[in-house]
Amino acid sequence: MESPLVQVNGLDFKLYIDQTTLQDRVQELGAAIRAKHPKEPPIFIGILNGAAIFMADLVRASQIPCELTFTRLSSYQGLASSGEVDILLPIKEDLTGRVVIVVEDIIDTGRTLSFFIPQLQALGPKRIEIATLLHKPAATQYPIPIDYLGFSIPNDFVIGYGLDFDGKGRELPAIYQKVD
Ligand code: IMP
Ligand code: MG
Repeated sequence: MESPLVQVNGLDFKLYIDQTTLQDRVQELGAAIRAKHPKEPPIFIGILNGAAIFMADLVRASQIPCELTFTRLSSYQGLASSGEVDILLPIKEDLTGRVVIVVEDIIDTGRTLSFFIPQLQALGPKRIEIATLLHKPAATQYPIPIDYLGFSIPNDFVIGYGLDFDGKGRELPAIYQKVD
Protein backbone atom coordinates (compact mmCIF):
# COMPACT_ATOMS: atom_id res chain seq x y z
CA MET A 1 0.00 0.00 0.00
CA GLU A 2 1.09 3.56 -0.56
CA SER A 3 1.97 5.80 2.34
CA PRO A 4 0.58 9.37 2.57
CA LEU A 5 4.05 10.94 2.68
CA VAL A 6 7.35 9.82 1.15
CA GLN A 7 10.82 11.32 1.14
CA VAL A 8 12.91 11.17 -2.05
CA ASN A 9 16.38 12.71 -2.34
CA GLY A 10 15.70 14.64 0.85
CA LEU A 11 12.43 16.24 -0.30
CA ASP A 12 8.93 15.47 0.98
CA PHE A 13 6.18 14.34 -1.36
CA LYS A 14 2.52 13.75 -0.51
CA LEU A 15 0.13 11.27 -2.04
CA TYR A 16 -1.68 12.92 -4.95
CA ILE A 17 -3.25 10.19 -7.13
CA ASP A 18 -3.68 6.88 -5.31
CA GLN A 19 -2.97 3.49 -6.86
CA THR A 20 -6.63 2.52 -7.34
CA THR A 21 -7.56 5.80 -9.04
CA LEU A 22 -4.48 5.48 -11.25
CA GLN A 23 -5.18 1.89 -12.25
CA ASP A 24 -8.87 2.58 -12.91
CA ARG A 25 -7.94 5.44 -15.23
CA VAL A 26 -5.35 3.32 -17.08
CA GLN A 27 -8.06 0.69 -17.66
CA GLU A 28 -10.32 3.40 -19.13
CA LEU A 29 -7.56 4.61 -21.43
CA GLY A 30 -6.91 1.04 -22.52
CA ALA A 31 -10.60 0.63 -23.31
CA ALA A 32 -10.58 3.88 -25.32
CA ILE A 33 -7.62 2.62 -27.35
CA ARG A 34 -9.35 -0.73 -27.89
CA ALA A 35 -12.53 1.00 -29.08
CA LYS A 36 -10.61 3.14 -31.54
CA HIS A 37 -8.46 0.34 -32.99
CA PRO A 38 -10.70 -2.69 -33.48
CA LYS A 39 -8.91 -3.92 -36.61
CA GLU A 40 -5.52 -2.35 -37.18
CA PRO A 41 -2.86 -3.33 -34.61
CA PRO A 42 -1.05 -0.16 -33.54
CA ILE A 43 2.57 0.10 -32.55
CA PHE A 44 3.11 1.73 -29.16
CA ILE A 45 6.25 3.85 -28.75
CA GLY A 46 7.15 4.51 -25.13
CA ILE A 47 9.44 7.38 -24.25
CA LEU A 48 12.05 6.16 -21.78
CA ASN A 49 12.56 6.16 -18.93
CA GLY A 50 9.43 7.76 -17.51
CA ALA A 51 6.79 6.07 -19.65
CA ALA A 52 7.98 2.47 -19.11
CA ILE A 53 5.64 1.67 -16.23
CA PHE A 54 2.56 3.41 -17.68
CA MET A 55 3.23 1.76 -21.05
CA ALA A 56 3.41 -1.73 -19.51
CA ASP A 57 0.02 -1.27 -17.86
CA LEU A 58 -1.54 0.56 -20.81
CA VAL A 59 -0.79 -2.11 -23.44
CA ARG A 60 -2.23 -4.79 -21.15
CA ALA A 61 -5.29 -2.64 -20.43
CA SER A 62 -5.86 -2.14 -24.15
CA GLN A 63 -6.23 -5.90 -24.65
CA ILE A 64 -5.53 -5.63 -28.36
CA PRO A 65 -2.87 -7.29 -30.49
CA CYS A 66 -0.14 -4.69 -30.81
CA GLU A 67 3.59 -4.15 -30.97
CA LEU A 68 5.66 -2.07 -28.64
CA THR A 69 8.99 -0.35 -28.80
CA PHE A 70 10.79 2.40 -26.94
CA THR A 71 12.81 5.48 -27.71
CA ARG A 72 14.94 7.59 -25.45
CA LEU A 73 15.18 11.34 -25.81
CA SER A 74 17.34 13.69 -23.90
CA SER A 75 16.49 17.32 -23.44
CA TYR A 76 19.09 19.80 -22.37
CA GLN A 77 17.03 22.37 -20.56
CA GLY A 78 19.15 25.15 -19.18
CA LEU A 79 22.19 24.15 -21.23
CA ALA A 80 20.92 24.64 -24.76
CA SER A 81 18.61 27.61 -25.00
CA SER A 82 17.88 26.49 -28.55
CA GLY A 83 15.69 23.83 -26.97
CA GLU A 84 17.40 20.92 -28.70
CA VAL A 85 16.39 17.38 -27.93
CA ASP A 86 18.72 14.45 -28.72
CA ILE A 87 17.46 11.03 -29.78
CA LEU A 88 19.59 8.70 -27.64
CA LEU A 89 17.80 5.50 -28.67
CA PRO A 90 16.39 5.67 -32.18
CA ILE A 91 13.45 3.62 -33.42
CA LYS A 92 14.49 0.66 -35.56
CA GLU A 93 11.01 -0.59 -36.51
CA ASP A 94 9.49 0.14 -39.90
CA LEU A 95 6.66 2.59 -39.19
CA THR A 96 5.59 3.04 -42.80
CA GLY A 97 1.81 3.10 -42.99
CA ARG A 98 1.45 2.13 -39.32
CA VAL A 99 -0.81 3.56 -36.66
CA VAL A 100 1.58 4.76 -33.96
CA ILE A 101 0.64 5.54 -30.36
CA VAL A 102 3.29 7.58 -28.56
CA VAL A 103 3.24 6.98 -24.82
CA GLU A 104 4.53 9.66 -22.43
CA ASP A 105 4.51 9.85 -18.65
CA ILE A 106 3.84 13.58 -18.58
CA ILE A 107 3.53 16.49 -20.97
CA ASP A 108 4.85 19.58 -19.26
CA THR A 109 5.90 22.40 -21.63
CA GLY A 110 5.33 20.12 -24.63
CA ARG A 111 8.83 20.78 -25.89
CA THR A 112 9.97 17.14 -26.00
CA LEU A 113 7.02 15.98 -28.09
CA SER A 114 6.99 19.08 -30.29
CA PHE A 115 10.49 18.02 -31.31
CA PHE A 116 9.82 14.29 -31.49
CA ILE A 117 6.53 14.21 -33.43
CA PRO A 118 8.00 15.70 -36.65
CA GLN A 119 10.90 13.21 -36.40
CA LEU A 120 8.35 10.43 -36.15
CA GLN A 121 6.29 11.85 -38.99
CA ALA A 122 9.37 11.59 -41.20
CA LEU A 123 9.32 7.79 -40.69
CA GLY A 124 6.08 7.59 -42.67
CA PRO A 125 3.40 6.39 -40.25
CA LYS A 126 -0.22 6.48 -41.35
CA ARG A 127 -1.29 8.21 -38.14
CA ILE A 128 0.27 9.33 -34.88
CA GLU A 129 -1.72 9.37 -31.66
CA ILE A 130 -0.51 10.62 -28.29
CA ALA A 131 -1.18 8.98 -24.94
CA THR A 132 0.05 10.64 -21.78
CA LEU A 133 -0.68 9.76 -18.20
CA LEU A 134 -0.35 13.35 -16.97
CA HIS A 135 -0.57 16.83 -18.47
CA LYS A 136 0.20 20.22 -16.93
CA PRO A 137 -1.94 22.61 -18.99
CA ALA A 138 -0.63 25.67 -17.15
CA ALA A 139 2.94 24.85 -18.24
CA THR A 140 2.17 24.62 -21.96
CA GLN A 141 4.61 26.36 -24.28
CA TYR A 142 4.22 24.00 -27.23
CA PRO A 143 0.61 22.77 -27.59
CA ILE A 144 0.41 19.03 -28.25
CA PRO A 145 -2.81 17.34 -29.41
CA ILE A 146 -3.50 14.60 -26.85
CA ASP A 147 -5.64 11.61 -27.86
CA TYR A 148 -5.58 9.71 -24.56
CA LEU A 149 -5.11 11.70 -21.33
CA GLY A 150 -4.96 10.22 -17.85
CA PHE A 151 -5.12 13.33 -15.67
CA SER A 152 -4.66 17.06 -16.02
CA ILE A 153 -2.69 18.31 -13.03
CA PRO A 154 -1.53 21.66 -11.67
CA ASN A 155 1.94 22.96 -12.38
CA ASP A 156 3.54 21.14 -9.44
CA PHE A 157 6.36 18.63 -9.52
CA VAL A 158 5.22 15.01 -9.20
CA ILE A 159 6.90 11.61 -8.94
CA GLY A 160 5.93 7.94 -8.94
CA TYR A 161 4.58 5.40 -11.41
CA GLY A 162 7.59 5.98 -13.66
CA LEU A 163 8.13 9.66 -12.95
CA ASP A 164 11.34 10.53 -11.15
CA PHE A 165 13.10 13.17 -9.16
CA ASP A 166 16.79 12.90 -10.15
CA GLY A 167 16.33 9.25 -11.04
CA LYS A 168 14.50 8.30 -7.85
CA GLY A 169 10.87 7.53 -7.07
CA ARG A 170 9.88 5.74 -10.27
CA GLU A 171 8.95 2.55 -8.43
CA LEU A 172 6.24 4.20 -6.31
CA PRO A 173 2.86 2.68 -7.25
CA ALA A 174 1.01 6.01 -6.97
CA ILE A 175 1.62 9.66 -7.94
CA TYR A 176 3.12 11.95 -5.29
CA GLN A 177 3.30 15.73 -5.31
CA LYS A 178 6.14 17.81 -3.91
CA VAL A 179 5.31 19.46 -0.61
CA ASP A 180 6.23 23.17 -0.58
P1 IMP B 1 8.23 18.74 -21.67
O1 IMP B 1 9.19 18.53 -22.79
O2 IMP B 1 8.40 20.07 -21.00
O3 IMP B 1 6.79 18.47 -22.03
O4 IMP B 1 8.65 17.74 -20.53
C1 IMP B 1 8.44 16.42 -20.62
C2 IMP B 1 9.38 15.68 -19.69
O5 IMP B 1 9.80 16.44 -18.55
C3 IMP B 1 8.65 14.51 -19.13
O6 IMP B 1 8.73 13.40 -20.00
C4 IMP B 1 9.36 14.27 -17.82
O7 IMP B 1 10.49 13.46 -18.02
C5 IMP B 1 9.81 15.63 -17.38
N1 IMP B 1 8.87 16.20 -16.37
C6 IMP B 1 8.06 17.26 -16.52
N2 IMP B 1 7.35 17.50 -15.40
C7 IMP B 1 7.72 16.55 -14.51
C8 IMP B 1 7.32 16.26 -13.15
O8 IMP B 1 6.47 16.91 -12.52
N3 IMP B 1 7.92 15.20 -12.57
C9 IMP B 1 8.86 14.42 -13.20
N4 IMP B 1 9.26 14.66 -14.46
C10 IMP B 1 8.70 15.72 -15.12
MG1 MG C 1 9.83 11.62 -19.67
